[in-house]
Amino acid sequence: MSDATPPAALPVPSVPPAVDRPPAVEFRHVTKIYGEGTPREYVAISSVSFTIPDIVGHGEISSFLGPSGCGKSTVLRLVAGLEPQHPPTSGSVTVLGRSIVGPAADRGMVFQDYTSFDNRTVLDNVAFGLECRGTPRREREAAGLEWIAKVGLNPRRDAGKYPHELSGGMRQRVAIARTLILRPRVILMDEPFGALDPATRLDMQDLLVKLWREVEATVLFVTHSVEEAVYLGDRVFVMATTPGRIIDEIRLPAASAPAREVQSEPWFHEQVNALHARIEQVEAAAKRPTGASR
Ligand SMILES: Nc1ncnc2c1ncn2[C@@H]1O[C@H](COP(=O)(O)OP(=O)(O)O)[C@@H](O)[C@H]1O
Ligand SMILES: [Mg+2]
Repeated sequence: MSDATPPAALPVPSVPPAVDRPPAVEFRHVTKIYGEGTPREYVAISSVSFTIPDIVGHGEISSFLGPSGCGKSTVLRLVAGLEPQHPPTSGSVTVLGRSIVGPAADRGMVFQDYTSFDNRTVLDNVAFGLECRGTPRREREAAGLEWIAKVGLNPRRDAGKYPHELSGGMRQRVAIARTLILRPRVILMDEPFGALDPATRLDMQDLLVKLWREVEATVLFVTHSVEEAVYLGDRVFVMATTPGRIIDEIRLPAASAPAREVQSEPWFHEQVNALHARIEQVEAAAKRPTGASR
């Protein structure tokens, strides 16, 4: 998959092999062409293949890193089964061994934009999915309050607030609670912390790692921050544009300490610098006239 020397190898903790378990997520030669057969036809991703194993009682965080327009959201929305990305033009997308036919509760998505309902309180936003499932009020409110606390909000003070009364970080905490309360096996996060200030962003990364350990789900995390991809990722898929494709897959140690600690360690800087260099190299190659060698 890699067409250049990958960054320095790191000791990666050994994980039990997935014996006879279908992968959590698998793409096989997936191509998505928007507006196929029209003058606006555009190849968003071309022959994207990757496998994220389903590790019992553990789960993995995979970061998808790449410049704007390289197809990160397209990949995520294909897993979510959302139109118009779904279905792919060719190739196959499977989750836990099953082909995607559309959105379902085994996959939950958190977007960058604050997607809470403005006219619902925090508690009613967090409990929304359970309400759709027909969970009785008392039960869903108890679960909602529990999740409000888990994402670091104050059940007593914050449950009755409306989204416009919350900061950006608090709103993303609500979005995370609203998704995780449904216990999806696969969590899809599309630049969820992209609009937050740097300090809040680090707090949210710590929160995600803490909750991920608890729910043991597979997380696909899209970002264009190299630091965020390296801190969160057990593996990082590096993408490039025109057409959108995966150029590297890098294994990394799982986040084992708070973001501020890990981000001051030498290995972290080495890895981040190597990835910046790799991305610059690919972007420079893309700007060269066609026909020039890379
Ligand atoms: N619905 C769509 N119709 C046409 N083109 C699209 C559509 N969605 C995305 N694209 C194009 O496909 C490419 C990949 O988009 P996207 O997956 O959103 O990239 P990223 O999330 O990495 O920025 C971009 O060039 C974008 O303009
Ligand atoms: Mg995007």
